[in-house]
Amino acid sequence: MCASEIARPRHIAIIMDGNGRWAKQRGRPRAAGHQAGFRTTRDIVEACGRQQIEALTLFAFSSENWKRPQTEVGLLMDLFLRALKSEVSKLCENNVRIRFIGERSAFQPKLQSEMNTAEKLTQDNTGLKLTIAVNYGGRWDIVNAARQLAAQVHSGDLEPDAIDIDLFSQHVSLADLIEPDLFIRTGGEKRISNYLLWHLAYTELYFTDVLWPDFTEVELTSALAFYAGRQRRFGQTGEQVTGTNA
Ligand code: IPE
Ligand code: IPE
Ligand code: MG
Repeated sequence: MCASEIARPRHIAIIMDGNGRWAKQRGRPRAAGHQAGFRTTRDIVEACGRQQIEALTLFAFSSENWKRPQTEVGLLMDLFLRALKSEVSKLCENNVRIRFIGERSAFQPKLQSEMNTAEKLTQDNTGLKLTIAVNYGGRWDIVNAARQLAAQVHSGDLEPDAIDIDLFSQHVSLADLIEPDLFIRTGGEKRISNYLLWHLAYTELYFTDVLWPDFTEVELTSALAFYAGRQRRFGQTGEQVTGTNA
């Protein structure tokens, strides 16, 4: 196979897991793990830009992460706020468009306003489409879409029979992006943890034991190589996909 034929994902979705264990291994507080994880996030966003990936969606804070000790939640919010302030100009330099998915009304007004500002400042950038999932849950996303469609039915603007997969897809988050081709979870757990439940139906799943702060462009390249070796069949036979006779 020549280089130009190697399949590359257009959209990558990542669960950035393992910050706490990375810190624990070093006898350091969990905050140090989150700080190190933030540096990795910055590096991987740049690497995806360099590798001409179209879209990158990162799970930064789940709707269940509020259950963590208040101090950890507080420091994650502080880190998030500082990161937003310090990184926006770099995102612009790198032509990255940033957006957020999740229920943002739960955040402090200061944080919400930084999120809105970052989205506005980068909205015309034409490079990497970066989405950060914060206070996000896959079940919340599906329920939210169902609620929007139910309201349209209630007001008489929509017939129940008109609800199909395509219409539903238009009401979940990331509706204007292609579905993720490649999912990566660092940190060794083999679960989805309420991430993009609707969107991952046919995504290739890659799990690595590497903890997020240790994840580098080399690890990303391994994930891309894994993806290149997959045959995506979407329910068809392998022969149908390759165009060879059965
Ligand atoms: C992921 O790392 C970051 C967030 C969930 C915010 P963790 O904090 O979950 O790290 P582990 O899983 O405890 O190692
Ligand atoms: C998933 O990681 C959420 C994020 C990385 C933001 P968790 O660490 O919260 O997942 P569980 O609890 O191990 O399933
Ligand atoms: Mg974790």
